[in-house]
Formats: sequence, C-alpha cells, structure tokens
Amino acid sequence: MAHERYQTFGPGGGRLRPGRPGPAAVWVRLESLLEGAGGVAANVGAWSGALAVVCFILILVSGVYLFLFYQVGAEAGYRSVQALSGEPVGAVMRAVHRYASRGLVVFALIHLARYLLTGRFRGPWWIPWLTGLVLLLIAWFVGLTGYLLVWDVAGFAAARVLAAGLDRLGILGQPLMLSLIEAGALRDNIFLIVLYVHITVPVLGAFFGWLHLARVARPRLLPPLLATVVTTAFYVGLSILRPVPLLEPADPARLAGGFPVDPFYLTYMALPGLAGWAVAAVAAGFATLPLIRRRPPAARVDPTRCTGCGFCVADCPYGAVRLQPAGHRPVAVVDPARCVGCGVCLGACPLDGIELDPAREAAALPAGPGPVVVTCENAAVQVPTEAAVIRLPCVAALPVSAVRQLARRGVEIRLAPCGLSACLYREGSTWVLGRAGRRRYPYWPRRATVIPGETLKMPLSRSASLRGRAVAAVILAVSLLPGGWDGPYWQPPGEAVLQVAVRTEAPFIWSRGLTEEEKSRLLPHMRADVPVAGERADLRLRVTVDGVPHEWVIRPGGIRRNGPSSFFAEVYLSPGAHQVSFSLTPLAAGAPPLADWEGTLEVGRGEARLIGYGLGGTGLTLR
Ligand code: HEM
Ligand code: SF4
Ligand code: SF4
Repeated sequence: MAHERYQTFGPGGGRLRPGRPGPAAVWVRLESLLEGAGGVAANVGAWSGALAVVCFILILVSGVYLFLFYQVGAEAGYRSVQALSGEPVGAVMRAVHRYASRGLVVFALIHLARYLLTGRFRGPWWIPWLTGLVLLLIAWFVGLTGYLLVWDVAGFAAARVLAAGLDRLGILGQPLMLSLIEAGALRDNIFLIVLYVHITVPVLGAFFGWLHLARVARPRLLPPLLATVVTTAFYVGLSILRPVPLLEPADPARLAGGFPVDPFYLTYMALPGLAGWAVAAVAAGFATLPLIRRRPPAARVDPTRCTGCGFCVADCPYGAVRLQPAGHRPVAVVDPARCVGCGVCLGACPLDGIELDPAREAAALPAGPGPVVVTCENAAVQVPTEAAVIRLPCVAALPVSAVRQLARRGVEIRLAPCGLSACLYREGSTWVLGRAGRRRYPYWPRRATVIPGETLKMPLSRSASLRGRAVAAVILAVSLLPGGWDGPYWQPPGEAVLQVAVRTEAPFIWSRGLTEEEKSRLLPHMRADVPVAGERADLRLRVTVDGVPHEWVIRPGGIRRNGPSSFFAEVYLSPGAHQVSFSLTPLAAGAPPLADWEGTLEVGRGEARLIGYGLGGTGLTLR
C-alpha cells in the first residue's frame, strides 16, 4: 500500500530527465533556477503573493498619511494633493503609494501566472483561484478611484473614458458623461463618495483575502526579511529620486491628453474597444477554469492502521486532515473537498496508514543496488548513469517504510525536490528535509544514506551566502522595476471636440391628472393638477457640422417612458471655424421645436466646446 503513485525508471544514463512535460515543469524549472542563483529570497514566483502583501502594507502606510491631508472636493482635492507634492514627506508618500500600487498588480499577475501554469485552479483550488481574481479586480478598481481623487487632467480623462464606455453599454438611466461636464453637477459630495469607496472597498478585499487563504495551512504572508527590506527600500528610494509629477487640474473646457497612462490601472484608456472586450473575455475564461473537472485524487486514511498520532494533521499543507474521536483513540480523517492529492501525508504517516491512488499500489521500489533519485512530478533532474528514479507528486510523499526498505538494502537515496521555496506543494521539500535530517517526525532511520539536493545542485538552505543575497537583491529589484513605469503616452482621439448634451423633459403624448374621486381621498394640499400617469414623446436631435448631419432619437427615461430625456455625444473636429446647427424637436404631432440654433463656432486646438439644451435647467447652452 505504501508505494502507490511511484513511477520508477531504470538507470538514468546521465541524462537530464524532465518532469512531466508541460507548463508546470517549465515554471518549476524557472523557480528552481532563481532559487539556485540567489537562495529562497530570490524566488519572486513563490513569494509573489507575499510580495503583493508587502506592497499592500506600503500602500496602507502611505495611504493613511495621504488621508490625513487630503481635502474632499474637485478643486480642494487637487489643491491638497498639490500641497502634499510640495513638501518632502508628502511627495515621498504619494510616490510610494503609487509605485507600490503598481507593484501589487505586478506581483498579483506573477502569482496568477504561477497558479495558472501549474494548474492550481482545479478541485479544492477553486476557492483561492476565484477569490484571487476578485482580489485583482478589487485592486484595479481601488487604484482607479485613487486616480479620480487627484482630479487632475489624468483623473478627468480616466473618468471621461470610463463614463463614455459605461454610457455605450446603456445600462445606466442617464449618461454619466453629463454629470462630468454639466456645471454644478459635479458637486463635492461625489468626491466624498469616491473617497469612501477608495477606503472601504479594500475592507471588502480583506474579507476576500481571508477567504483566499482559508484552505491554505500556514500561508506565507510575508516573504523572507531580505525581500521585504529590498522591496521597501526600492520603492522609498525610487520615490525620493523620482517623485510622481502632478499634472494640470481637470478642466472640462479642455480636451486632456499628452500624458502617460498608468499601465496597470488606466490601461483601458489606451485600449481600442475590441481589446477591452478581449481582456474581459480572458478574465471570464479564467473564472470558468475551475469548471474543468480533472480534480486530483484525494488521500484516504485506513482506520485500522491509524493510531491517531497526528503527524499527518501537522504536515498537510492544506489543512485537509483532522483527528476525530473513534472509540478509545482519535483517528485521522481526510476532507476530500480540501485534499489536493499531494501525498505529503503519506510521508508523514509512520505506519502506512494513508493511501492515495490504489491503482498504483502494485508498483515496486527499484530493485537494483544503485542509488535512487527521489523527485517530484515536475522537477527536471540530472540522473546519474547508475541511478534509478522514483517520481512522486511531491518528494515528501515518500513513506518512511520505503526509506527503511531502501536503507536495509544499502541503497543511497538522493533527494531532488524542486526547491525549498519552489515546492509546488508549499512545504513538501521543507518537511522531507526535516524528516531525513531527523528534525521532524517521522524520523528517517539513521542508517539510511540520504543526499539532499544533490542532483539539482541546489543549496537547499534558507540562509544564502553574501553573494547569494546580492543576487537575490538584483533579481528582486528587476521584478520591482515595472512598478516604476509610468506607462505609454495617451492622446485623445481628436484635436478638438464638440460635446452635444441634452437633459430635459419632453412633452407628454398623453397624460392624465387626478380624478375628482382620487382628489377627494387626498389631503387638500396634495390635490394639485399635475400629470400622475402618461408617456412622453421621443426627441429628435439633429446637429450638423460644416454640412455633415448627425441625427439621434432620444427616448424618455423610465420603464413607463415618463422620465427625463438625457443624451450625450462627442463630435471630434479639427481646430478652426465651423458652421454648426442644433435642432431639438419632439416627435409628437404639432409639437413646436424645443431649440433651433445655427451659427459659427470657433474651436481652438485642444478645446472641448459644448452645445446643449436643458443643462442646469436652462434652455440652449453654448460654451
Ligand atoms: C491580489 C492580490 C493577491 C494576494 C495578496 C495573494 C496572496 C496569496 C498568498 C499570501 C497566498 C499563500 C501562498 C503560500 O502560502 O504559499 C496565496 C495563495 C494562492 N493564491 Fe493568491 N494572492 C493574490 C491574488 C491571486 C490571484 C490573482 C490568483 C489567481 C487567480 C491567486 C491564486 C492563488 C492560489 C491558487 C493560491 C493557493 C496556492 C497553493 O495552493 O499553494 N491569488 N495568495
Ligand atoms: S494528500 Fe494528504 S497532505 Fe496532501 S492535501 Fe491531501 S490530505 Fe493533505
Ligand atoms: S500519521 Fe498515520 S497514524 Fe498518525 S494520525 Fe495520520 S494516518 Fe493516523
């Protein structure tokens, strides 16, 4: 029973034997190389989640400082950020806040790539996978609201592009763009809401973070000290050397452009419409990956062998085993919903009390006297001519009974885990080295000859040499660099724009007021002669620019078609004088036009002119 899931090979002929071919093996090889070069701290892949947490802590600390000095409002917000940028501590805090926010997304994407390529979305991994996607979405949304709070030209342009996109979807009652351009509509309480969202949505993130780690025993929340120090020093140093600039304040009369757009939070501005849909389709595809039914086999405990020692409970990296009372002693039970089939518990059980895949039970240990290389499914190992190979889901799945058997025959065991931090089952390599070194139960027999890490030439030690630490610092710095990138320059789609806007109430096609009977049931002051039911007319809006016609039909809002009619569109122009006409007519028999205007409009380069009707309760607006 103990030797299930062994894949045994004959002598290796000195060749490099790759692990199970596929993306997981490639990723493990990459992480092994990083760990081999600079020790565990250099493995940014394995620490990606923890490095994202370090970025989050930096964001939190700098964010609290910024919050103390931020003033709510469009102009007040901009002015307070301007004041912060003008003093040394504020400027550094602002830059750390921004660089670390980008770093968080970079590490979350590395983290996503790690678990995508190693298939950690199947079976019990569906929870960390889906909650991870939610965390990424939350991070993006919170970052976006941060840009809006500054209300400079970048924040304004980001809001415009977002509002225009949402308006195109047509899911909101009235165009969001109107609220951005209408004088007086952009009241300071909108910024209060944005600030509230910016601060409270991360709290929602904390809940998803807890859910994210609910199935991971002893999660690695912080990376090694070296990685934490390098990350903090890098972002603080970068912020001192290169504080983030403050752009011009938002101006609805100007067409903003000619500034870099943040590559992680404002990328959508630079993406053409179709690319935006492609990103949404990839995200939706990722979210459906857990539906792939290929779930790993779960371990099972043989209650007749289990003594209730609890070693398996202590070693399972996913908290999938627990002890439950069964008569005079407890017995271990595996929760199949949490078990990922790593086999670490097989190696933890001193009495072969756990089985994983009965189909492989018959597989025997290599019979020859030559050394045996014990490795995992994914690691690529250099197998000496005289050695045989045992490949397990994880090196830590080697049962102590198999070690005893090999030791009895005088066979040398060469352990070749994928690395200490690179171990895809998180703690497998650490546990097996502990067992072999007699620091962790169950101790391997003294007479067993074990050579750890030999075939991978891995240091397999948590403390790297001075040179190793320097290499790790360089690798970390390279992974931190993308956080300092300001992104590609963004230009609006034209040189000048004419904004066309309407917010009015169209005349009723039919309506009725209160009947005498209804009035008699109401208090006297409620008996006004106003329409209580009815349907408003559609409006036809016709705008011509230099003889080119643009025509739209504006439907009244509300399911009963009795609400206000709102509309917003943009017509991009070249700078110069343009002959413009604007006519707004209800599509109801005999109804007079609401507005009819014709004239010459002088438009400067980069200007945003506005022609509208009903904005702020007035008739025709020309700005
Ligand atoms: C946005 C910020 C994120 C943070 C701060 C974060 C943090 C973490 C941490 C600290 C762990 C524990 C790692 C360990 O102990 O080995 C973890 C595990 C995990 N994360 Fe994330 N994560 C984030 C996003 C994501 C994303 C986007 C995905 C994928 C869609 C993801 C998928 C996973 C999976 C599958 C595990 C379980 C790993 C295992 O079984 O070994 N995470 N995460
Ligand atoms: S195989 Fe064993 S150690 Fe691995 S997750 Fe399942 S119960 Fe835990
Ligand atoms: S390690 Fe083996 S004997 Fe000990 S509790 Fe787990 S299954 Fe039972």
